[in-house]
Amino acid sequence: MERASTSPLSVVPNDLEPYWMPFTANRAFKARPRLVARAKDMHYFTPDGRKLLDGAAGLWCTNAGHNRDPIVKAIQAQAAELDYAPAFQFSHPKAFELASRVAALAPGDLDHVFFCNSGSEAVDTALKIALAFHNVRGNASRVRLIGRERGYHGVGFGGVAVGGIVSNRKQFGALLAGVDHLSSTYNRAEQAFSIGEPEWGGHLADELDRLVALHDASTIAAVIVEPVAASTGVLPPPKGYLQKLRAICDRHGILLIFDEVITGFGRMGYAFAAERYGVTPDMITFAKGITSGSVPMGGVLVRKHIYDAFMKGPEHVIELFHGYTYSAHPLACAAGLATLDLYRDENLFERARKLEAPWAQAAMSLKGLPNVLDIRPVGLTVGIDLASKPDAVGKRGYAALEASYYDHDLMLRAVGDTLALSPPLIVSESQIGEIFDKVGKIIKQVA
Ligand SMILES: Cc1ncc(COP(=O)(O)O)c(C=O)c1O
Repeated sequence: MERASTSPLSVVPNDLEPYWMPFTANRAFKARPRLVARAKDMHYFTPDGRKLLDGAAGLWCTNAGHNRDPIVKAIQAQAAELDYAPAFQFSHPKAFELASRVAALAPGDLDHVFFCNSGSEAVDTALKIALAFHNVRGNASRVRLIGRERGYHGVGFGGVAVGGIVSNRKQFGALLAGVDHLSSTYNRAEQAFSIGEPEWGGHLADELDRLVALHDASTIAAVIVEPVAASTGVLPPPKGYLQKLRAICDRHGILLIFDEVITGFGRMGYAFAAERYGVTPDMITFAKGITSGSVPMGGVLVRKHIYDAFMKGPEHVIELFHGYTYSAHPLACAAGLATLDLYRDENLFERARKLEAPWAQAAMSLKGLPNVLDIRPVGLTVGIDLASKPDAVGKRGYAALEASYYDHDLMLRAVGDTLALSPPLIVSESQIGEIFDKVGKIIKQVA
């Protein structure tokens, strides 16, 4: 018998090499790793015990804070009770309970939930539902999908196709056919240093009318936008923009999808940004905050008329040929229910709304520091654009990332040369001060 110590299943040298990290500069990371080993509430801890203040809610997801006891206990209890239930043709009670709870948080008649495991899956699910919805209603010519420049909708082929981030698209061929894009709503000359929704840019929604004139409404299935484009560097919608998109979609029978993978679950001070903006889309995609990042989960909220359109024909026949082995996984449902309880019991969405003004004020205190080109606070998040180094786009942002981890005990996110912050919603006012104090020092260090 082979000795345990020599089995490849037991001990192997851990040189970090085999793990191909996602959306990461692998060689730079492996030369100087940024590892976290433990977390609690507002903090991460490195393997050697340093305490980092989490200014990024992990990756925009741990909205309730890290390792919260009620969520941990719910996951532990669920793991001991029911590890897995088949997602197709069977289910378990917590899936229905969570769907009801999520639907109750959503505006209007967004009252049905399709579960999946990530934001990318949620987006591809929503796009497929849009196409299938028109199909079942006899409008099979409605196949075009409209996204927006600088949009991020995950990494599935559908999400990348409607997304508008060049580096995410250019290596992957032709993507989906029949996709068009609205312009980005960002214009630094017109909007720099706006707090919240900029005054300029509402008219850019009229581009949808131009695309309708070009393609004809009878060929367009859906428009998908992030209410606040977050991953690209936090771009709040110009005043009136989303309302206009809604009106144009209504006029032409086009479905409007809000991708709320980041903006959902309190980030904008409400359960969904749709509520903040008073615009009810036809579908909302969500993920991340639904379980406060503790177990992977995503989903799509759909309006009643969309669900109803599928509920026709013989009752033993599957209505939508789509789903995932781990749709509504028991661990994710248990985590989701405990997370929603925490959001409710600690009024975390209202808390984010109240903290928005001091957050914005603290963010704006960085104006005037070296290389700061724009600061865009909205909800409990902000994008801070730094000037790129000549001929080295992204290098200053990367230096800021390294400095934050190694020198300032802060977790932040750098997107190119833009710093993005989005703390857990349990952040205190003094921690907000601490975050921006550290960010100010980092900006000076990388000047
Ligand atoms: C708006 C939006 N959609 C989709 C996604 C993809 O989510 P995931 O990484 O869970 O697939 C993200 C991730 O940041 C996102 O911000």
